[in-house]
Parts: sequence; structure tokens; C-alpha cells
Amino acid sequence: RPFRLSLEKLKEVSVRLKKDLIRGLGKHSHHRAAVKMLPTFVRATPDGTEKGDYLALDLGGTNFRVLYVRVVEEQQKVVKMDSKICSIPQEMMLGTGEQLFDHIAQCLGEFLESQDLKGQTLPLGFTFSFPCEQKEIDKSILIRWTKGFSCSGVEGQDVVKLLKEAIHRRGDYDIGSVAMVNDTVGTMMSCGYRDQSCEIGMIIGTGTNACYMEEIKNVKRVEGEDGRMCINTEWGGFGDDGSLKDILTEFDEVVDQTSINPGVHTFEKMISGMYLGEIVRLLLVKMAEDKLLFKGETSEALLTPGQFETKYISEIEDGLENAQKILTALGLNWDPVDACVVRLVCDTISSRSARLCAAALATISNRIRVNRGLDHLKTTVGVDGTVYRKHPNFSEELQAAVRLLAPKCDITFLVSEDGSGKGAAMVTAVAQTTCILPP
Ligand code: BG6
Ligand code: GLC
Repeated sequence: RPFRLSLEKLKEVSVRLKKDLIRGLGKHSHHRAAVKMLPTFVRATPDGTEKGDYLALDLGGTNFRVLYVRVVEEQQKVVKMDSKICSIPQEMMLGTGEQLFDHIAQCLGEFLESQDLKGQTLPLGFTFSFPCEQKEIDKSILIRWTKGFSCSGVEGQDVVKLLKEAIHRRGDYDIGSVAMVNDTVGTMMSCGYRDQSCEIGMIIGTGTNACYMEEIKNVKRVEGEDGRMCINTEWGGFGDDGSLKDILTEFDEVVDQTSINPGVHTFEKMISGMYLGEIVRLLLVKMAEDKLLFKGETSEALLTPGQFETKYISEIEDGLENAQKILTALGLNWDPVDACVVRLVCDTISSRSARLCAAALATISNRIRVNRGLDHLKTTVGVDGTVYRKHPNFSEELQAAVRLLAPKCDITFLVSEDGSGKGAAMVTAVAQTTCILPP
């Protein structure tokens, strides 16, 4: 029952987030604000006049990717020439920053070699999906790691500088100017190329977050009165000041306490792929201990943190046969009723996630609507992330709840193609055509 949030509760959550958005936009507030509202220095969505060849890096989701893309002016599109996925071993995610950036530079070097591009100095769009304080489009200071990363010596540092230093340590190739983007921004920009009214980017994957186009006059940390700037909300941090206490369950508390960053990213830990499986696991253990499941027995796998993967939730909700296979693989002694109950547990947890996201998205779209003095807003959200993409009914549930929570907004959802790397290249291209970056 504590996971089933009523529409009234979701409305309350939405109102609380609305207050936090305003607080976050204040002059000095990002250090204290739970929702950081970070300026991105992206002032416009693509207008189709950009062109050229670009490199892109995409770090912070399930896969680390290196891409080579071409922005074609006449056809108004971004073409992916080639790309490569490089794995990042778990130890490296918790090692030193130098090791991490050397590894990134090595993957990029190998990719350039394979594409015969080593002699060129191409501009690069860097999708870096962590909260950064941007001073400019090419200066981006990591505020703190989130999700599974915790490399030493990077927090408080300029990520562009760390990347360039690693490339220079090798000395066998170089890159041109660099534009830094969050994955939400990359996603918004890559969808913006297909739909000009795409002004929100949302991720529901390993982590969760959204960005949107805000009026510059409301962004107190950036000078200027006219026009708009994309704001990376970092809504994953919503609740870090205790504002979501009433909806947190004992299971959420355990997930937080056993994570590598207790107290940080409360909202994200109720929603995103990195945590959903663990919430379900804890719930199943408790129900088994209370003799409500598996004849009161557990198994070694069920008792091991991380062993119930988030993808199982999607698979189990997709069909009872899957549920049975997974329970068997987890060494559990199940009967048909158990399988149904487990499916219900998964549905409860994924529904809460979808509905909380809906509440947050409703807050943002309503904000855009009110900002523009509109009675009705028609807008598009660019979306990405494995939870949104892979779960059988997550997107329907989210969309249904948003319709109820933001009845004056007509929102189209556009799933990004090829991830946010293309969007990062777009940002680099836009920055060059508007002379923010050297060509
Ligand atoms: C990818 C984007 O497709 O989705 C990344 O290219 C983003 O930038 C990712 O971080 C989010 O999803 P997940 O599930 O991989 O974390
Ligand atoms: C985490 C990061 C954020 C990112 C999100 C989705 O919340 O802090 O920057 O956008 O995950 O990947």
C-alpha cells in the first residue's frame, strides 16, 4: 500500500517540485538546493543550418559510446557515420579519475584509428551524464558523481580539462573544441532536429533526470533578460532535503543506505533502473520472511544485493512464464500463486516509478506553459533510457498519469534514436555557427 500513490499525493509531489524548481533557479542556490537547476549554456534548439563532421562521447548510461557523426545541412539531419561501445570495468568506475580519463582517451584513439581519422582535429560533443556546474559550453565542473561512479579527483574539476589532459598524455592525436552536454540535453537536441517543438529532454534509465527551455530572465545565475536557456534540472536530487519523507518506504531507506552515495538522489532511487530491481528484491525477501511467498523460504540469490536485476521487472511483467523462469533461476521454490504475487510486486514498483516521473514531468510542462502565459501548451519531450524503452507498459502508465496531472498540456513523446551522442554533436555545431566555440 505505501507504494501505491494516489493522484492527490502525486499532485502534492508536483507542487513540492514546483517550489524546488524556483528555489534552484535562484542566484546562489545550487550548493544548497536539492534540485540544482543547472544552466547549460544551450540557448537554442537546432534550426537546421548547422553542418560538419563531429566526434561524440557518451558517458554515464548503460554503455560508454564513441561516435563519428555528420551534420548535413540540406537534409536537415544528423547522420551517424559509425560508433563503438567500450566497456568500463566496475573497478574503473570506483578508481582514480586519471585512470578513467586515460581509458576514455584510449577508446577514442582506437576508434579514430579504425576510422582513419587520427590526422584530423575534429570538434567533439561530450555527453557527460552527471551534475555539472557549467561556466561556458566548454567548461564543466563536476559537482558530484551519481549512479555507479565514484572516481577520485574529479569532483570539483573541469571535465573538459581532464579529457584534454588525458589525450595530451598520449600525444598521438588531438581534438578540436569541445561542447559539454548532459544526456537530457543531448536527447532533447537529437529529438529537436526532428521536431522543432521539442523543448524537454527526459531520461529514465540507469538514472533519471530532465532538462527544459527556461526563460533567461528567470535564471538568476546567468546574465540577460531575453531569450531562453536549457536548464538541466537534476531532478534526481528531489527529496534530498527531506521533502519526500512522507512517501519513502522502509525499502527505499535500505536502498539509500546501502548505495555508494547515501542521502543523495532520493527521487532517482525511487525511479531509475539502477535501483528498481533492488527495491523489488528487498520486498520479496520481506514477504518471504513474513511467510507470504515461497512457503517462507528464500534463496542465496534472493538474499544477495543486486542479484534481482531491473530487467527482470520488465520480463516478469511481460508474462507469467518469464516470471516462472526467473524465479527458478533465482533458486526459489515457487508455486503458481507466488509467480502471480511476484508479478504484482513488480507492477507496483514500476507503476510508482512511472507515476512519480509523470508528476515531475507535469511540473515542468506546466512551468513552461505558465512562463509563456498560455492557457494550453503543445510540446514535445525527447525521451531515452532503458526503463522507458524496455518496460512493457511504463510509457503508457507515465503518459496516462501526465494527462491527469497536466490537463492543460498536450505532450508528444519522442524516443531518441541512436542516443544522445547525435544531440551532443548538434550542440557543438550550434555553438560553432553562433560563434560560441571556435570552428
Ligand atoms: C542512451 C543515451 O541512449 O541513453 C545516453 O545515449 C543516456 O546518453 C542513456 O545516458 C540513458 O539510458 P540508460 O538506460 O543507458 O542509462
Ligand atoms: C543522474 C545524473 C544526471 C543524468 C541522469 C540520467 O541523475 O546525475 O546528470 O542526467 O542520471 O542519466
